[in-house]
Amino acid sequence: MENDKYPFVNLPLPYEYSALEPFIDTKTMEIHHNNYLQYYIDNLNSTIADYPELQQLTLEELIRNSVYLLDGLRIPIQNNGGGVYNHRFYFNGLQSPSAEKPEGRLIDMIEAQYGNLENFLVVFKTEALKIFGSGYAWLVFDYGKLRIITMPNQNSPVLLDYCPIIALDVWEHAYFLKHTYMRNAYIDDWNHVINWEVANANYMECLANFSQIDQVTDEAF
Ligand SMILES: [Fe+2]
Repeated sequence: MENDKYPFVNLPLPYEYSALEPFIDTKTMEIHHNNYLQYYIDNLNSTIADYPELQQLTLEELIRNSVYLLDGLRIPIQNNGGGVYNHRFYFNGLQSPSAEKPEGRLIDMIEAQYGNLENFLVVFKTEALKIFGSGYAWLVFDYGKLRIITMPNQNSPVLLDYCPIIALDVWEHAYFLKHTYMRNAYIDDWNHVINWEVANANYMECLANFSQIDQVTDEAF
């Protein structure tokens, strides 16, 4: 991943702030990226500014290893490191609305596990609507299977060793300007701007890592 070590910077989005119109509005994207993500980046940098050994770790390693740290470092690293990781993942998984029918290995797997894409999106929305307060819904790869999980605040699936495929930010700042309190309508709109090519690439990476683990396990026994 680009810029995966200290000092973290706010990388430009791979599209314009207006690219997701009319489903996600320009102002929301601008504030979300330019203010919210920047806030997490600044806080993460200042949290580890005096810890050269932590500055050597990648963002994922920082989040994973935070469990070994005392609260004074663990909590800000999980909150702000998660805030950087989760937002980057969410933003990278979006694209301009496209009429193209998504396809690929991920879609095959979704169809095998959930019947069809429409049904998967219904199940995903149902889970995302259950999040109390702020958090994310994730599609993750978990030992050979797809799983939908939700995590509160900026907790990251990296902490639980899941391999993430799709992220949906359901903090109110992600939709309040356009959808006000209607998380439901925001999720319906988000369905139109999911970047299935990126999701498929994430899935292929999870598969590759999984088969490596499989090989190591086979060799060990
Ligand atoms: Fe957010």
